[in-house]
Amino acid sequence: MMYTEKVLDHFRNPRNVGEIEDADGVGTVGNPVCGDLMSIYIKVEDDRISDIKFKTFGCGAAIATTSMTTELAKGRTLDEAMQITREKVAEELGGLPPVKMHCSNLAADALHEAVTNYRTKNDGEGVS
Ligand code: FES
Repeated sequence: MMYTEKVLDHFRNPRNVGEIEDADGVGTVGNPVCGDLMSIYIKVEDDRISDIKFKTFGCGAAIATTSMTTELAKGRTLDEAMQITREKVAEELGGLPPVKMHCSNLAADALHEAVTNYRTKNDGEGVS
């Protein structure tokens, strides 16, 4: 199986690993294909992602794709973050082996979950 240098770099030196204690939004998703888990934490300021971190119980491809996803998402508006797809992330990494494409679902799905979580919490004010 061939991984690009970019994938290996993000796997060996993952960016934005960790947890944000007072996160404004959290997204946790499981991968139905392998059972692995991913959590993404975001801080939001003026409708933009000001900080982002992730923790995973996932494989190297999941770590690399999520690391890249957090880099792409940081500083973006929430709408822009919702447009980040697994294809976009895989493209930025120079491609992923086809059997590992499912791993990149975790990153995009967890990011979208975190944004939705933030929006739900904020729209929910006073709604009950
Ligand atoms: Fe589970 Fe890659 S094998 S995320």
